[in-house]
Amino acid sequence: MNTATEKDILRRQFFNEAAEEWEVRNYPPETAAKTESLIAELEIASGMTILDVGCGRGILIPMLRGRAGQRGRLVALDASAPMLAGVADKDDGAFALHARAESIPLLDEYVDMIVCFSAFPHFSDHPAAAREFHRVLKPGGTAHVLHLASREMINRHHDRHHAVAGDHMPDEKAMRAMFLAAGFASVNLREHAGEYRFSARKKEA
Ligand SMILES: C[S@@+](CC[C@H](N)C(=O)[O-])C[C@H]1O[C@@H](n2cnc3c(N)ncnc32)[C@H](O)[C@@H]1O
Repeated sequence: MNTATEKDILRRQFFNEAAEEWEVRNYPPETAAKTESLIAELEIASGMTILDVGCGRGILIPMLRGRAGQRGRLVALDASAPMLAGVADKDDGAFALHARAESIPLLDEYVDMIVCFSAFPHFSDHPAAAREFHRVLKPGGTAHVLHLASREMINRHHDRHHAVAGDHMPDEKAMRAMFLAAGFASVNLREHAGEYRFSARKKEA
């Protein structure tokens, strides 16, 4: 287990304190609709097991349930307990894991898909998170790192808030190298002002 740095503690406090008002502040109807469209583009089949890493209050959970159906298994993971507490209100069938992306408490090859929405830049060890994504995905599974803004906009936005200043999305070259080094077979980035979507696919069995 890693020792938390001062920065980790500051960041965690920030998210703990922001939890109660999180959705009201960050998900007005227009943003929720854009998020829904982003999720609608993912190839989610009924019955899939999906892991939402850095799930926050679980804004994605009803969207994922709508696509994975009642037979789908949803696992929501977040390092902030007050954030994670929101998941049960959304879906009492979703499993909530209070854990870090860098150390996912699941056995190998459990999930069909990983979604990581508006969270990756906040992880303190990006390569460790990428390795964990690869480990817990089934062969042929995909990890999606998603945002509703370009990398530059995300990085600028974080730098305006002391607790998350410096929480940057690595550039394309670094993301590609990191996920390929983690074992992924292929990676793809789609990016424009209103979207960042980095997808990494694990090799088929
Ligand atoms: C900007 S919020 C986004 C939450 C949610 N995905 C959303 O869009 O509403 C980032 C989330 O990442 C979580 N987080 C930060 N570092 C983490 C880590 N190392 N492992 C897991 N979660 C982490 C925070 O607690 C927070 O809930």
